[in-house]
Amino acid sequence: MNVKDLVSKMTLQEKASLLSGCDFWHTTAVERLGLSEFMMCDGPNGLRKQEGETDHLGLNSSISTVCYPTASAVASSFDVDLAWKLGQTLGRECQRENVAMLLGPGLNMKRSPVCGRNFEYYSEDPYLAGKIAAAYVNGIQSEGVAACPKHFAANNQEYRRMSGNSTVDERTLHEIYLTAFEIMVKESHPKSIMCAYNQLNGTYLSENKYMLTDVLRDKWGFDGFVVTDWGAGKGPKEGVEAGLDLVMPGPRDDHEKAIIKAVESGELAEEKVDRAVTNILNTLNWTLENKKDYGPSTDETRALDYAFAKELAQESAVLLKNENKALPLKDGNKILFVGEFAKAPRYQGSGSSHINSAYVSNAVDSARAAGKEISFALGYDSRNKDLKNSYILLEEAVEAAREADIIVIFAGLPGSYESEGFDRKDINLPPEQDKLIDELSHQGKKTVVVMHNGAPVAMPWIESVDAVLDMQLAGDAVGDATVSLLWGDVVPSGKLAESYPFKLTDNPSFLNFPGDGGNPVYAEGIYIGYRYYEKKRRPGLFPFGHGLSYTEFEYSDIKVSKDSITDKDNVDVSVEIWNIGRYLAKEVVQLYVSPGSSKVSRPYKELKGFTKVELSPGEKKVVTFTLDSRAFAYYETKIHDFYVPSGDYSIMIGSSVNDIRQTAEVHVESTSELPITFDQFTAIEDILDTKKGQAILGPVLQQMNDGMGESEDDDALGEGGAEMFEKMILEMPIINLASFGILSTDEVNGILEKLNG
Ligand code: BGC
Repeated sequence: MNVKDLVSKMTLQEKASLLSGCDFWHTTAVERLGLSEFMMCDGPNGLRKQEGETDHLGLNSSISTVCYPTASAVASSFDVDLAWKLGQTLGRECQRENVAMLLGPGLNMKRSPVCGRNFEYYSEDPYLAGKIAAAYVNGIQSEGVAACPKHFAANNQEYRRMSGNSTVDERTLHEIYLTAFEIMVKESHPKSIMCAYNQLNGTYLSENKYMLTDVLRDKWGFDGFVVTDWGAGKGPKEGVEAGLDLVMPGPRDDHEKAIIKAVESGELAEEKVDRAVTNILNTLNWTLENKKDYGPSTDETRALDYAFAKELAQESAVLLKNENKALPLKDGNKILFVGEFAKAPRYQGSGSSHINSAYVSNAVDSARAAGKEISFALGYDSRNKDLKNSYILLEEAVEAAREADIIVIFAGLPGSYESEGFDRKDINLPPEQDKLIDELSHQGKKTVVVMHNGAPVAMPWIESVDAVLDMQLAGDAVGDATVSLLWGDVVPSGKLAESYPFKLTDNPSFLNFPGDGGNPVYAEGIYIGYRYYEKKRRPGLFPFGHGLSYTEFEYSDIKVSKDSITDKDNVDVSVEIWNIGRYLAKEVVQLYVSPGSSKVSRPYKELKGFTKVELSPGEKKVVTFTLDSRAFAYYETKIHDFYVPSGDYSIMIGSSVNDIRQTAEVHVESTSELPITFDQFTAIEDILDTKKGQAILGPVLQQMNDGMGESEDDDALGEGGAEMFEKMILEMPIINLASFGILSTDEVNGILEKLNG
């Protein structure tokens, strides 16, 4: 298809018709020109292809298929290769099902643990989310299927998600809420992107030119098409003007008519409509050129997909606690499984990502199928919370526990707690589960808790249990994966991609979530997640990046390729990892950068590299990271871009954000200065921070200082007085040199003239 030629042949009405869908899941066809429609479907943790009644809330059924671990779990694998393979696997399935575009991944930041959709998002850290998202998008698109990452951007809660206004300052927006999108766009060139429902700083994202054009296209080089979230379209003309291309779902005759009217009345330039049509057709054309004939899904393809879902679940599970050698379980021990989730596990979230699973494994059946001897007690019944019934079930579990050596309790959040469309009220488990765990953990037996959750939960019983294995929302293979991890056939290697606080009130967004009337002010700024907990030195239940193993790793021999670099250079950092335990296992090696003293407020540590490495018992490997200038940068509003200030930076390598094992120092010298206009109220230290300031004001101050040294009054300043005086001078606006009679106003103005000259 020659897109340019085609657009030139289209009537205005045909063009306008293309700017909204023809139904819930398809673009509009133009038969006269042989232009077909194309289908988009939800994911992102499986394919939700609806063939009957359609909806965007996961209510009506879709094809029966494999459900993979949710995004929150995938990020916990810290494995970009697996994220890529998940994308590729889904891309293939889309090809089999004639789906041209998959609506995912979701990569919004986890500002609060109670956002109803946290299971659908990757992390509270933009670097991790961006890298995983880029790999996933590259995987999908490697199969000739378009990806549509979402929801662009600052869409971090479900409460009033369709109308709320997120107020976010420029630095926070770029440094936290846009960085993941930026990495993903630059590293994977998605063919589409979905704008969010909400407003950002007073403008709906579907009409936000700054976001859709200035940042997305002009700054980052995005060249796909922008589609609205389902039902997020507002003014047709305003949308196109801002850089929006497609409004979904359709049909939307009103949209088509409004576009035609706006062009005919001269309010909207037809070239802008052409741009939107061209963007959509470029993607359509690309998918047609890359159409593959894999034939339909078969039992064999489903089995392979299930095996991959199991691998992903194994790699995503996080061993939060393991004391008294509770895990792995040993054959020969009497093991009791307790809890509803042991038979009917929670394995995915609710809403538009809901997958119609063909088969879901559960731990009881999986364990028995693997030849493990286990007994089972229900412990509680979520459908019948009648006091008497609850008492009987709890007593039965306690009775069964007496016969057991080890109790494994299956707990987690029910589906009604975590969903698209609403946020959680708190981070608690259902009370009957807390009670069950508390009771069973006091029976004098080893107690293991297996969690099923898409976001952090409080664990008031944490001190009394021996081990916690967090399966997250692990997809269809949850039961099989859990059993393989519990018995140590596979060693847990996932790490938390979101900090677990003790209490919801510890979270930095707490005072401003969900905001009055659903209009949150992101007052905590850049300090979300571990950036806050680390800066405040405030420990949580489990930190970002935390995850144990059945083996142990020793870190040694950190090396940096250069001690001193400029902001234009890269630096390599290597470290040696040694498996000193008895299991073949994987470790996620994490690299954080910590700025030394800084004039601007900066996080104590920020993730700037990670890699997952597999080691046999006794094996050592050297892991190398390459850091570029962005690893040392913050977003500077004076230049509306990232900036690296000169200074000393610590490179910290560890096993979690607060388990740093090796540290090295690098000095970075900036090759550019921030623009500054000097006036009477510029602080002296800001002037001295510039080369020009040092050259012009430096000698004047030196002279002043020398003069004071000779003064007889010097002793009057007392011990440390000179230092105090210097500090006071440095923080003063330059005009105060005149106010205090040190220089005349004319002399100050003369200095300013030279500085600005
Ligand atoms: C969700 C999107 C989803 C769309 C289509 C919306 O409600 O926010 O993530 O892709 O529906 O189902």
